[in-house]
Amino acid sequence: MKEHGMKTYRIAAIPGDGIGKEVVPAGQAVLQALAAAQGNFNFEFTSFDWGGDYYREHGVMMPEDGLDALRGMDAILFGSAGDPHIPDHITLWGLRLKICQGFDQYANVRPTRILPGIKSPLGRCKREDLNWVIVRENSEGEYSGVGGRVHQGHPIEVATDVCMMTRVGVERIMRFAFRLAQSRPRRLLTVVTKSNAQRHAMVMWDEIALQISSEFPDVAWDKVLVDACTDRMVNRPASLDTLVATNLHADVLSDLAAALAGSLGIAPTGNIDPERRYPSMFEPIHGSAFDIMGQGLANPVGTFWSGVMMLEHLGEVAAAQRLMRAIEAVTANPALRTRDLGGQAGTEEVTNAVCRLLAQDDAQQAIAG
Ligand code: IPM
Ligand code: MG
Repeated sequence: MKEHGMKTYRIAAIPGDGIGKEVVPAGQAVLQALAAAQGNFNFEFTSFDWGGDYYREHGVMMPEDGLDALRGMDAILFGSAGDPHIPDHITLWGLRLKICQGFDQYANVRPTRILPGIKSPLGRCKREDLNWVIVRENSEGEYSGVGGRVHQGHPIEVATDVCMMTRVGVERIMRFAFRLAQSRPRRLLTVVTKSNAQRHAMVMWDEIALQISSEFPDVAWDKVLVDACTDRMVNRPASLDTLVATNLHADVLSDLAAALAGSLGIAPTGNIDPERRYPSMFEPIHGSAFDIMGQGLANPVGTFWSGVMMLEHLGEVAAAQRLMRAIEAVTANPALRTRDLGGQAGTEEVTNAVCRLLAQDDAQQAIAG
């Protein structure tokens, strides 16, 4: 029974493939525990069995009208798309990119920090030196899907992938990135580019960055070539805060960022429609990890952290902070580390620990209050 006046968030859960089927239910359990502990909102989850198994049965990763089923939701919690027996471009374009592009989730946001207890491979990097958010253009650029192949199988075969950059697309991602940088304490934005080699689209990208910067006089910003950016991330991590980059550049940089922060297994992401015309989608970036799927070994922290991003998007800031505290308490505890972090704990153990901490946090706050 719904309590009077209590907000209910309708969330689509799409586990997808591989360990997505383990970490998404774990994420749901944690979000339900959080809602119970907070007491001022509810979650109503609807699960969708789309992905590789669905493809084997129906010949498509998700139904043709699948987006209609998601349209009315407040957000989407996604696991991963990828199947060892189906080509990657089919699983990816048939599900995840279909949702990202169908719902014009043009801002992909990837926060990276070194969580307590996690060791960065960078010997000289202190925890406070690495606190980044990478904003990835998520709707066009190198992933626009424009291109084709002719003369297939013949010696004269030709293939193209055209990087499409639109003025509207670049303006809106720049504006989003400047606004995000403005909301963070350092008010610092680094625009990643490659306009020395790519003379058209990247030059327009730079011009538009300059143009949009005039709307944000209180944000300090600079420009860096993508190759030089990798060096800066490794050798001067504290010189960066918010970054904005094209779809492909940010894809590469965000893996480097996650690795430098100690683990790809715990990194979260949000595919955001900033205008809120459509539901936004939150997911761990780790992928399907077939080698460990179905064994209860997957690290659910990336999904929990994605849940924090979802709560922030929904405006539940206090709940987001509470979940982040529980996540950090878990990463700080060696007994609660999964194998990818050198520990022995399983998915269920970590999930139960976070649920317990959320309830304790409640008790502590009640005592404090
Ligand atoms: C990511 C992933 C995907 C991407 C893969 C699975 C195609 O690497 O989200 O970063 O490149 O977008
Ligand atoms: Mg990637």
